[in-house]
Amino acid sequence: MPTKCTDMEKINRKNFLKNFAVIAAGITAAPEVFATPTGFVSHQRPALLSKLDTSGKLIMLNANENPYGVPPKAQKAIIESLATGNRYGFVDNTREKLREKIAQKEGLSKEHILLSAGSSEVLGILGGYFGKDKGNMIFALPTFWLLGEYAKNLGVEVVNVPVTKDKKHDLNAMLGKINRKTKLLQVCNPNNPTGTIVDATELKNFCTEASKKTAVFIDEAYIDFLPDRPTMAGLVADNQNIIIGRTFSKVFGMAGLRIGYAIAHPKLVAEMEKFQQGGSISVGTSSVAGAMAAMDDSEFINSFLEKNKAARDFTMSQLKSLDIPYIPSYTNFVYFSLAKYPNDFVKEMAKYNVLVRMFAENEEKWGRVSIGTMEEMQVFGEVIKKVWQS
Ligand SMILES: Cc1ncc(COP(=O)(O)O)c(C=O)c1O
Repeated sequence: MPTKCTDMEKINRKNFLKNFAVIAAGITAAPEVFATPTGFVSHQRPALLSKLDTSGKLIMLNANENPYGVPPKAQKAIIESLATGNRYGFVDNTREKLREKIAQKEGLSKEHILLSAGSSEVLGILGGYFGKDKGNMIFALPTFWLLGEYAKNLGVEVVNVPVTKDKKHDLNAMLGKINRKTKLLQVCNPNNPTGTIVDATELKNFCTEASKKTAVFIDEAYIDFLPDRPTMAGLVADNQNIIIGRTFSKVFGMAGLRIGYAIAHPKLVAEMEKFQQGGSISVGTSSVAGAMAAMDDSEFINSFLEKNKAARDFTMSQLKSLDIPYIPSYTNFVYFSLAKYPNDFVKEMAKYNVLVRMFAENEEKWGRVSIGTMEEMQVFGEVIKKVWQS
């Protein structure tokens, strides 16, 4: 959550909140929404949660988590690993084995892999490494905002390029924004929060072109939702200006265990490691053991992907039946328009213990619902109907 703002950002933020307060009945003197220059809007979660009656079951559809728990094979491996949790983890070499396993899957070497405490740590490393000399960084609006926030705090100018009408990255427009001060450009594929993808061949050409002028970061947190898994990882083998971000938090069901990784050229990995807080051992030994096993739990993964698709189709059908425009999603979340909803959507849904998110795209208001279990999405369907029609 941002704490420091420039005067201009404060003014923009004030105006935004004023406008938002006008349209959002119920938000008065102390609005609970916030906006960042990268376009993220939400309720401040701790404040909201403290006001909720949590005696009933909270339905957490606000963080794109896997609702089916940690994969059974990972749970077993984690439990077994606990006995040696008193050691830092240099001893048994599991970290190196995980790097090798990931590298093998991608056709690369372990020197291309940097393990991190969630892929958020990769975003922090990139913010620090590429933002240390200020300049600018280019992002879609909206997209996953964390890297932009890190960089902004270092004095980097954040350049937002609106997504196209169908909510995809506007690659040409992004390319056009690169100038001599540009340090990094991010493409989130599939994109959070819109759930859209860009064509793989177009993206490949774009990476080749853009990386001649700036570092290109492809955030692939949701790549495993796509059956053909069109990763850009192969490009890093002979390109020192491309970085891929991955996580075990989504398909692999380990969000709370904090493990992710970056894929990049070994020379860049070595540089990035210098910016890793806690050095190469920032990931816990149990998380490493869990991730190794999760990669082999194809039964869990395939069953999750199937259930997610069924619950996602159901969710989209619910939105359709209420005439709410939504963006067809490739992921475990759906982005939908709040243009016709006059109130504070997140707050109203939370009254029924259903947590969702809101975003601002300049003047437009959008909602995002994460896909939970079918039962949870049935509750979502009932609650949104009540809230929408009240
Ligand atoms: C696109 C994207 N990148 C990165 C992250 C960070 O995830 P984690 O730190 O859990 O790996 C998220 C989390 O929601 C995300 O949506």
